[in-house]
Amino acid sequence: MTDDPRFTAVLDEYHRLIEDRNRTLAGTPFNDGRERFMPVGPETGQLLAVLARSLEAPRILELGTSFGYSTLWLAAAARTAGGRVTTIELYEEKSAFARQMLDKADLADVVDFLVGDALDILRDLSGPWDFVLIDHWKDLYLPSYELLRPELAPGAILVADNMLRDGEERQLDFADAVRATEGMDSVVLPVGSGIVVSRLGRASV
Ligand SMILES: C[S@@+](CC[C@H](N)C(=O)[O-])C[C@H]1O[C@@H](n2cnc3c(N)ncnc32)[C@H](O)[C@@H]1O
Repeated sequence: MTDDPRFTAVLDEYHRLIEDRNRTLAGTPFNDGRERFMPVGPETGQLLAVLARSLEAPRILELGTSFGYSTLWLAAAARTAGGRVTTIELYEEKSAFARQMLDKADLADVVDFLVGDALDILRDLSGPWDFVLIDHWKDLYLPSYELLRPELAPGAILVADNMLRDGEERQLDFADAVRATEGMDSVVLPVGSGIVVSRLGRASV
């Protein structure tokens, strides 16, 4: 799927937009979470797609759609593996932009775009989830994990972004909670802004 010219064209468009937008916004009052692109980047995107594609018909959950960069990678994996993506974003305009981009890549039909506060939505959202990407605001990682943990399928893969700064692990409360989960194996990888990749054992419930 990542060889599909529509996917590559949209990916190239993202890379151009990200560079332009962040250069334009640097030093302006709009250089905040609402306006800036803060994508996982190509290496993490590729890794997300490789991992999600390794699952059979994965039910994928993403916290923090933003403008849809990581959603594009996840949707490509979902398409190939016969799965589906549910992605949550606080801001309507970001979600709408993401939907347009995914539509251009002919991938919007495998994605459910939800708008609102992830914690509110998670309280009412049922899994089971086979693959989860956590990439919204950092103080929400732990409360989000506490809500979604019971909804993880046996064998589920959990990826959290922005887990390293200057080589030091961040979001320690969240990372500790993941590591303390029975049956969970976890590794910190210096890919992009640092990710923690975890997998729940198949026998664990
Ligand atoms: C780092 S960006 C996500 C980047 C995206 N995953 C990508 O790779 O393109 C974090 C996003 O989380 C969103 N966000 C922040 N708080 C949120 C909340 N409470 N619920 C849902 N989304 C939230 C922000 O608006 C922002 O777009």
